Amino acid sequence: MQQSSQPVVSSQAGIHPQLTARVLRHRDHRWQRPVADHSRRAFAVAGQRAAAHSGSLILDAGCGTGASSLCLARRCGDALVIGVDKSQARLGRGLDGPRPDNLLLLRADLVDFWRLAAEAGWQLARHCIFYPNPWPKPGHLGRRWHAHPVLPSLLALGGELELRTNWETYAMEWEATLTLHGWSVRREIVTADAAAVVSPFERKYLASGHHCWRVLAADPER
Ligand SMILES: C[S@@+](CC[C@H](N)C(=O)[O-])C[C@H]1O[C@@H](n2cnc3c(N)ncnc32)[C@H](O)[C@@H]1O
Repeated sequence: MQQSSQPVVSSQAGIHPQLTARVLRHRDHRWQRPVADHSRRAFAVAGQRAAAHSGSLILDAGCGTGASSLCLARRCGDALVIGVDKSQARLGRGLDGPRPDNLLLLRADLVDFWRLAAEAGWQLARHCIFYPNPWPKPGHLGRRWHAHPVLPSLLALGGELELRTNWETYAMEWEATLTLHGWSVRREIVTADAAAVVSPFERKYLASGHHCWRVLAADPER
């Protein structure tokens, strides 16, 4: 039976006309907002786990319940998978049963977490951003991660970067932004193949018959 999730509706047609100017401004100016103390405490927990881990690191940024992080941890047993979300109510919800040792679910604000990780010199093997809030109103451009001043820190973490979204415009803007930063990028449709599906949101959207997109990008430095 088909479920009925609503597709993203926006008055914005195509890539936002101010995207390039916004991205270049953030690329060329360091963001100065102070990091909150609670973010430093949360990052210290992640830092200790990362330091104790000898394998690679995967960050599931905005992981929601952490179902996608759990899926990644099971599939990539040698990696430490860190799922970060600001919502304590969501984190771990519905994840019954034992969790693998290579999984850490952490409440933190990504705006600080990304900057602290970049300052600490983290280099990720994989960085996942699955179904961020698309902020579809044109006036909300600055809230989208690719047009946010934190983006240079997010990109400094390197690795294979994967965005998934059900709003094609978001995927197009993400692709355009990473290209401006010199990354090589591929945008494609996500199929309903069970092996490809990792996030509850994409499961929901695909079950409703929507298209979902993913943007895969590689760090130009590696
Ligand atoms: C649409 S949900 C997607 C959840 C999950 N990735 C999935 O695909 O099922 C977006 C998630 O990003 C989280 N989020 C948004 N802004 C955040 C921030 N600044 N720091 C941490 N998490 C954030 C929200 O709490 C929410 O759980």
